[in-house]
Amino acid sequence: MKILIIGGGGREHAIAWRLAKEGHQIYAAPGNPGIAQIGINLNTTGLEAAKAVHPALTVVGPEAPLAEGIVDQFRAAGLPIVGPTREMARLEASKIHAKLLMERLGIPTARFVQVESAEAGIAALSQFDLPVAIKADGLATGKGVIIARNREQAEVAVRKLGPRLVIEEFLSGEEASFIVLSDGRRFTAFEASQDHKTLGEGDTGPNTGGMGAYSDGRILDSSQVQRILDTIIEPVISTTGFTGFLYAGLMMTSAGPKVLEFNARLGDPEAQALLHRLDEATDFAAALLQSATGSLRETLRSKADPSVCVVLAAAGYPGKPRTGDPIHGLAECPAQVFHAGTRSGAGGIETAGGRVLGITASGRDLSSAIQNAYAGVQAIRFEGMQYRRDIGRKGLKRWPPATIEAAGT
Ligand code: AMP
Ligand code: GLY
Repeated sequence: MKILIIGGGGREHAIAWRLAKEGHQIYAAPGNPGIAQIGINLNTTGLEAAKAVHPALTVVGPEAPLAEGIVDQFRAAGLPIVGPTREMARLEASKIHAKLLMERLGIPTARFVQVESAEAGIAALSQFDLPVAIKADGLATGKGVIIARNREQAEVAVRKLGPRLVIEEFLSGEEASFIVLSDGRRFTAFEASQDHKTLGEGDTGPNTGGMGAYSDGRILDSSQVQRILDTIIEPVISTTGFTGFLYAGLMMTSAGPKVLEFNARLGDPEAQALLHRLDEATDFAAALLQSATGSLRETLRSKADPSVCVVLAAAGYPGKPRTGDPIHGLAECPAQVFHAGTRSGAGGIETAGGRVLGITASGRDLSSAIQNAYAGVQAIRFEGMQYRRDIGRKGLKRWPPATIEAAGT
């Protein structure tokens, strides 16, 4: 079938890659040079792109078009599309809206206050211990959250991210990204994945859109999954009729899973890791079409092998990225290369954005998946390339590979 993908990042390349493998004809708006190798990039977008190619199905990757109401427009035109309506997408587009919904439904989340001015924000700080999480209300491509460790940082964060803010209690534990595909009533879940939000190794430095992710069946056990489905996912979907990908960013606290945020789409880079290990027995295109038409039957099954995606970012990211540098080694890379911030230049593919590539691989265990992904990273070079060397290491710490006992010592 003809499938139109809206977006042009690593997530959209991963969606295109999977759907092309299933034998579908891929169109992307705007797409990227990686997608151009397996499909056709369009220079129109939204309804106009759909009018040009008459897709049987449209899949929306990023949050911005969802928040602007692309799903409402396509539905009004009678075109099947995967994603939430503008109203449902407020779950991601407004953190205040999401927190109020969670409060109303009794969904476990950090204690919070909402404020509308810097003065109110600074006054509210006294209700929280340090560290404290300060969050801008609106969309901020992963950069709208500051964890303040002292009072001065907290006041600076309130002034920087405000005036509309959520201030919330700091939660500690392991983070997990839990993503389901819904048709408005029924849903099917991916296995969990873990993002690496900060720029620096050991979870230091500023927050980014995500510097790498891994997916492994052991991140959550079946009782944790059941609890997440019962206390978080089911209440949201049955109350809002949410359609498309619902992403719960979770903290696995000692008191159980709590929601850090909802996203109204697949995570990026999580999607790259998740789609890499999606089982061939799953008909992903059918699942998407069923989500769009309210008839979900397909289940998303993962292969046992864990997967890892390492993001290669441009110098300057998450601030203003340096662009226009040639990228070397793409053809020789032994891992799957998903394009994100790239473009075709006179001398070949060059950098064109903050997160440039997602180097993705699976392996028979997490440690081999990590090795395979970093073997791919070693093949790629561009000026100022920055990446984390510790993607997946948290998993290795939780589940150390079996050590071989030296005999006779
Ligand atoms: P969010 O966009 O709300 O998921 O926040 C981005 C990142 O900030 C999360 O992935 C966490 O690493 C961190 N974070 C957000 N809220 C909290 C919190 N209440 N306690 C601890 N860390 C948090
Ligand atoms: N990687 C986190 C996100 O997509 O928001």
